[in-house]
Amino acid sequence: MTKLIIDTDPGVDDAMAIFYAAAASEIELLGLTTIFGNVTVEMATRNALRLVEAAGLDIPVAAGANTPLALPPFKPSFHVHGDEGFGDIPAVSPNGAAIDESAADFLCRMAREHKGELVVCPIGPLTNIALAIQQDPDFIANVKRIVLMGGSYREGGNITPHAEANIYHDPHAAEVVFASGAAVEMVGLDVTHRILCTAEDFTEMAATAPTLGGMLQDMSHFYLEFYKSVGKLDGCSLHDPAAVIACTHPEWFTAEKVGIEVSCDGDTSGATIASKDGRVPTAVYTAVEAQKVKSLFMERIAQLS
Ligand code: BDR
Ligand code: CA
Repeated sequence: MTKLIIDTDPGVDDAMAIFYAAAASEIELLGLTTIFGNVTVEMATRNALRLVEAAGLDIPVAAGANTPLALPPFKPSFHVHGDEGFGDIPAVSPNGAAIDESAADFLCRMAREHKGELVVCPIGPLTNIALAIQQDPDFIANVKRIVLMGGSYREGGNITPHAEANIYHDPHAAEVVFASGAAVEMVGLDVTHRILCTAEDFTEMAATAPTLGGMLQDMSHFYLEFYKSVGKLDGCSLHDPAAVIACTHPEWFTAEKVGIEVSCDGDTSGATIASKDGRVPTAVYTAVEAQKVKSLFMERIAQLS
């Protein structure tokens, strides 16, 4: 059983990742922490609570940072994920509320309580993870793995020619994480761009899981339109679900061990590049058995209501 916390900015593909985790019997989801990115952190927390309630999960949601470590606040990616984060679906207030503990505090406490077992899967900007590293000197040793969706090694960027969005939105935080010596695994665009989800796939999700798959299909229309608008006519990338799947099926991914550093300014800000300073190598995933990842994702979504 993989003990997992997902750090998230829901977000359409975040919703897909969280529903996947809810259905995966080998994952024990200990909680969600939220971060600005696709939406504001207030919206991310609201959306995370809504996903938890929709999926019938009884897990805590801890609210995280609302701004990057050093950069001024970013405008959320409403043009990609819609005004409320879930495409065209209007905002719905959840019944529950976030716990009275910050995301960083919750991460540090859970890492302590599940020492050597906790896998952290950040699928948004890395601010909460950097804060946890900075505030608890034992956090890195306590955590088993950090498997993050973000970055790009050879693929180029998706928000600038050089940068992937999650890293771009807080490059200083990403640099803290990659320089920390933690066991980091980078599920970046080199692999997520190989795993596509089409309109037909969302139709299948709605048919096999009318409530939750149907919710994903409702969200998908706006998201797929964005992809089309940037010339990607074959569907959207399975970014965030790929990172969650890498937590339990790393054997489907090929890793290159590279020390990674993050450019924090200029045109290349947010680029994840090979470091020359001998830092602890990151497992950079550069190839994937895409069909296996996609099939497992579809299979698990079909198990939902
Ligand atoms: C990442 O950025 C966000 O838009 C997605 O949710 C994903 O985490 C892809 O670059
Ligand atoms: Ca995300």
